[in-house]
Amino acid sequence: MEKTGQENETVVTSFLLLGFGDLGDQWFPLFLLFLMIYVATMAGNILIIMLVITDHHLHTPMYFFLANLSCLESCYSSSILPLMLANLSKGGQGTVSVTGCMVQYYVFASLGASECYLLAAMSYDRYLAICKPLLYTTRMNGQVCFQLIAGSWISGSLAVNIVIYVMQQLRFCKSHKINHFLCDLNPIVRQACNDTHLIELLIVFLAGLFSLPPFLLTLASYVSIISAILRIPTSSGRKKAFSTCSSHLIVVSVFYSTIMIVYMLPNTEALQDLNKVFSLFYTVLTPFFNPLIYSLRNKEVKEAFRKSVARLCVFHRSRGSKLMHFFT
Ligand SMILES: *[C@@H]1O[C@H](CO)[C@@H](O)[C@H](O)[C@H]1NC(C)=O
Repeated sequence: MEKTGQENETVVTSFLLLGFGDLGDQWFPLFLLFLMIYVATMAGNILIIMLVITDHHLHTPMYFFLANLSCLESCYSSSILPLMLANLSKGGQGTVSVTGCMVQYYVFASLGASECYLLAAMSYDRYLAICKPLLYTTRMNGQVCFQLIAGSWISGSLAVNIVIYVMQQLRFCKSHKINHFLCDLNPIVRQACNDTHLIELLIVFLAGLFSLPPFLLTLASYVSIISAILRIPTSSGRKKAFSTCSSHLIVVSVFYSTIMIVYMLPNTEALQDLNKVFSLFYTVLTPFFNPLIYSLRNKEVKEAFRKSVARLCVFHRSRGSKLMHFFT
């Protein structure tokens, strides 16, 4: 903190992230838990990207979407967990500069917003495949897939660019303590000493404007998919399709509902701890569960994984032997 002569008020130049409170010597179990989640998240997502890139059977729009989702998730997770782990290893709290805090918010929020759009594009892809199978190849080709993916990345960062522009109006001079484990929007706004009513209203408006369309599109797609599934005559086919689809629906609903709770409920002191718990769902748990639920339960992905493991084993046992040909 430093004094500015003119306004005679303390200017905050760095924040203290309070995380989960002062853990003292008790930080290790929590650190280990989040470290394991981070390692598993990165391993799962990178595995999916590798499988989709290397296996030609997976060069279809659906798997391009999945690989892009995994790419997004691993970046997203890396914008949140390393700082959180570093702070946990210091006993639970850590300082971060105001600029660093803004950068973290910008990176994780634009990736998170892109994820909303990508999940919507993926549900639209599944809707076409299941409800309009005859139109699928004409409506969803490589070019459309590329446009949807590029559109998701761009819309996500556009939304957050506007929020960041608004946030430049904030001046920080009160306390420098942020009761959160990451630099999220509401805790930062709460630190500002100018009148934030208008800014808070604008943020709720922007959050609704940018998150409602993908949310409604996703919801509509899944409702159509589920009603199509319920019309499948054989009960075994119905059960299988329903289980895949309902697991997607659960992850998407948890992701959206926790985001809505966190950003749309009033930004008050009393709701802070609740806010932190809900934030864990969309920051830490979604990137961890998505690869498991979207890809690793999928038959073709499992098959690609089995093949690449087989190829790897053979390669190590007898480099260049004829056996290679059986597997490639
Ligand atoms: C993302 O999608 C594009 C366009 O469809 C695709 O070419 C690319 O391989 C995908 N990215 C990854 C990491 O698979």
